[in-house]
Amino acid sequence: MHEHLSNTTTCCLCWGIGAIAVLFAITIGFLYKFSYRKYPVLPNGIVLITGCSSGIGLYTAEYIARHCPYVGYATVRKDRDMTTLQSLNCKNLRIVKLDLLDIQTCQNVINQIHEHMESEQLPFVALINNAAINAPFPIEFHPITHAKRLMDTNYFGSFHLIQMTLPLLRQCHGRIIMLSSFVTSFPVPKGGMYTASKCALDGLSDSLRRELSPFDISVSVIEPGMVFSQMNRKNEEIADEILQQSNSSEVLPQGQEIVHEHNRKHEWDSGHDYDYTHLLGEEVSQRMKDIYSYLYTNEERQRFQRVVAKSDSPYCVAKAIVDAITNPYPRTRYYVANYDGISVKMYSWFLWLLNDRLKDAIVYFPKKKQDNPSSTPILDETGNVSVSASDKKKD
Ligand SMILES: NC(=O)c1ccc[n+]([C@@H]2O[C@H](COP(=O)([O-])OP(=O)(O)OC[C@H]3O[C@@H](n4cnc5c(N)ncnc54)[C@H](OP(=O)(O)O)[C@@H]3O)[C@@H](O)[C@H]2O)c1
Repeated sequence: MHEHLSNTTTCCLCWGIGAIAVLFAITIGFLYKFSYRKYPVLPNGIVLITGCSSGIGLYTAEYIARHCPYVGYATVRKDRDMTTLQSLNCKNLRIVKLDLLDIQTCQNVINQIHEHMESEQLPFVALINNAAINAPFPIEFHPITHAKRLMDTNYFGSFHLIQMTLPLLRQCHGRIIMLSSFVTSFPVPKGGMYTASKCALDGLSDSLRRELSPFDISVSVIEPGMVFSQMNRKNEEIADEILQQSNSSEVLPQGQEIVHEHNRKHEWDSGHDYDYTHLLGEEVSQRMKDIYSYLYTNEERQRFQRVVAKSDSPYCVAKAIVDAITNPYPRTRYYVANYDGISVKMYSWFLWLLNDRLKDAIVYFPKKKQDNPSSTPILDETGNVSVSASDKKKD
């Protein structure tokens, strides 16, 4: 009798908990449903995409030109990239020169778009802030010249373009798409400055979305995982530009030279280990690898190569960008592609459950390093990292 009662109680308890869980899920579902915001969808017009010489920008420009009723303004910096894009033969694609570090070139492109809008009575549909640079360094060794350039390109470049295009976007209820990164949810060692620039973009986008809400201007952030790209190879070129050297081809891995329309899969980095000796100089580069040896091990290199080998095609990002432009209910965030074979959407849910210490544990279990004061780098008079005079004597 007693046992029967306790069984009935347990059963009731289970049903009760189940019912509460279902009610909770239904309530959350309704809240989500009602939180969707509808925006106007423009049937034709102009889209501006920055950084179209390779990777996501190139694929997005081509995708929009071939599959959407829009005229794409695809920006590049170099003559050779203009030729590459022209060879795509997309009549809806206008290839223009724009360097985010040169405001005048940005203004020229905006003027061109404005004239085009007026002459053909076209609305400005969207600004896609895609162009960016990266260079993985431990923070201690990231040269300040490069760090500032990174922020100027990734953050202030997008910021300026938003300021310049907002009057046009306001006229026609256009949209803004920001290329951020999954690293904002899961920052990794050697990615400090890049992550900082993308977190800044995320913050800017969230504030902007609320600020522009009364104007019906949607702001969406794209958070891709790993995607085929040339970013790391290009960092070598940037290192060259900074140092005004001309021998960057020596450090390129084989087969990475030029984007080719029929050979695009070769445009990614294949996990090549860029050590930026170029930018730091032989001596400081070696010191960096000594101090942060656990980030430069063979296992670490292989792990990175494995992650890169599982990269997705930039097409998945291009599709998410087009959805953010054409969907009447655009998402505020698009998690696309994978990281190490796992969808970043799933990752983001999973990471949401973990605290910072658990996330730290997922990234690395480095052995505690011995402090070695004599190998502490100092900043030289230009603010860049150099090896201290006392260290040089010892060496
Ligand atoms: N690939 C990935 O796995 C990944 C993951 C997450 C997020 N993302 C983001 O996706 C976006 C595209 O990356 P991607 O992988 O396609 O890289 P990518 O192939 O290196 O393309 C970057 C583009 O930005 C341009 N650019 C660089 N500096 C510029 C400047 N000062 N002014 C104008 N354009 C400039 C480059 O032009 P040049 O050829 O002239 O240098 C290039 O066209 C970036 O915002 C990146 O942070 C990429």
